[in-house]
Amino acid sequence: MFEHDVIIVGGGLAGCRAALEITRTNPNLNVAVVAKTHPIRSHSVAAQGGIAATLKNVDPTDSWEAHAFDTVKGSDYLADQDAVEILTREAPEVIIDLEHMGVLFSRLADGHIAQRAFGGHSHNRTCYAADKTGHAILHELVSNLRRNGVHLYQEWYVMRLILEEGQAKGIVMYNILDGHIEVVRAKAVMFATGGYGRVYNTTSNDYASTGDGLAMTALAGLPLEDMEFVQFHPTGLYPVGVLISEAVRGEGAYLINSQGERFMERYAPSRMELAPRDITSRAIAYEIRAGRGIHPDGSAGGPFVYLDLRHMGKEKIMSRVPFCWEEAHRLVSIDAVIEPIPVRPTIHYCMGGIPVNTDGQVRSGSDGFVDGFFAAGETSCVSVHGANRLGSNSLLECVVYGRRTGAKIAQFVQNRKLPIVDEQHYITEAQQQIQALLAQQGQYRISQVRHAFQDCMTQYCGVFRTEQLMQEGAQKLQEIQNQYSQIYLDDKGDCWNTEIVEALELQSLIVVGRLILASAMNRQESRGAHFREDFPQRDDTNFLKHTMAYYSPAGIDIQYAKVAITMFEPKERKY
Ligand code: FUM
Repeated sequence: MFEHDVIIVGGGLAGCRAALEITRTNPNLNVAVVAKTHPIRSHSVAAQGGIAATLKNVDPTDSWEAHAFDTVKGSDYLADQDAVEILTREAPEVIIDLEHMGVLFSRLADGHIAQRAFGGHSHNRTCYAADKTGHAILHELVSNLRRNGVHLYQEWYVMRLILEEGQAKGIVMYNILDGHIEVVRAKAVMFATGGYGRVYNTTSNDYASTGDGLAMTALAGLPLEDMEFVQFHPTGLYPVGVLISEAVRGEGAYLINSQGERFMERYAPSRMELAPRDITSRAIAYEIRAGRGIHPDGSAGGPFVYLDLRHMGKEKIMSRVPFCWEEAHRLVSIDAVIEPIPVRPTIHYCMGGIPVNTDGQVRSGSDGFVDGFFAAGETSCVSVHGANRLGSNSLLECVVYGRRTGAKIAQFVQNRKLPIVDEQHYITEAQQQIQALLAQQGQYRISQVRHAFQDCMTQYCGVFRTEQLMQEGAQKLQEIQNQYSQIYLDDKGDCWNTEIVEALELQSLIVVGRLILASAMNRQESRGAHFREDFPQRDDTNFLKHTMAYYSPAGIDIQYAKVAITMFEPKERKY
């Protein structure tokens, strides 16, 4: 059995920042990070547009209070305001710390970190490294982890959280290279496993974003918070769905329909293309529905709108958003200097997740915590994003709450003993699970079931939702879950058996999908990214509360928890 003081699952920004903080606080602690890819291939590396903080390098009138207000308003008043206060107050300090680590931020002429406009932010406060911000930060963090002696298990798939009598004791993991299983016991377990974009058929997320940490937590009997809030990023590149950063609009690009109109005038006249994502994504979906979308041959009535950069000029495009230009050029042969880019909303981010307090301790319900279990980043719900996240607040959340969670863990593991774990029991159980998958004489390929599942979630629980639609979706999902028990694997070997990983991931996706659907059906109002055509208004009287969804194979139990309102009373949200 492997042993560490701390085991962190997930090699993205939140996990790496937590590991760094633990080793900075106490260099004698034995810390390990386990990831199913190499850490620098974690999805954080794909973050493009930037990280928000009130450095005031461009706009001296900015303040953490303004950042907090924008975040709470953007969240449609569902964010916990105590957590937002911490996020926005600590933001400048964590950015300067990243700069001192060597992160190559873009600069102003005077040498200060450059800051750009972003959707829903009232001031230019998004710091960036061209349009490769996640790449710049993650590489520096991973180098620091190596320097600080953090052990990296790369390309291991974590199958299970070991949770006994309310205490997290370790994990069970599968080595993708050779198929062997190991148990890791630790004094503290942290999940920083990212999101679940692959629940849907079009996403900006990596193939690895399959919600594994969320599913393991739910299967351990713990609640997941606010799972109905699924963010569509307005500008996914058509047809592939990869991200064309909001930074492009922050730098001045327009959204145009088939009639050549800047249609955001109709939906958010004061913010135009820089309205929050829920509003902008719905606006694009309405335009497409109304027949003002565009076809690949340029005619009206098609499935996308245009993102027009041409007026920005080559020099600005190539210096501020070169990667977006490259994506459009490489993937759909568009030269954005001379042609508009076809875009439509794509699944981008999960606002909900594993409920935690502001020290990253995982909640066991509406009160109480799981001993030794922590989470941060997209997989957690602290909740700073509420019903809709503002762009450039997610890298910030990873760094602020990764750091806080790391500091708490370093303190927590002091004077604690390693837990007692029955290694053989967990190894046998995991081996049986894999043997059962390999032995299954099914009739469906994994990809068939996964595509059916992703299409189902996209069709029945997408931008526009109704009771009837979601009921149909729930029935279809039940059929798909039944098909899961009839999948077959061609590869029966041990070496780099990606089919086993895909089968395990599909199980995670289905658990997460069921939680999203059940949470969405129960919230009979429209708030942020959750839009119910049968309940089009926000309903603070009945639904200004967090969903807590408990999974069991028999069904999902929905409870609710309070929202922390400490600074800003809910108001009508207009832009
Ligand atoms: O559009 C973007 O660059 C994405 C940023 C974010 O999700 O924070």
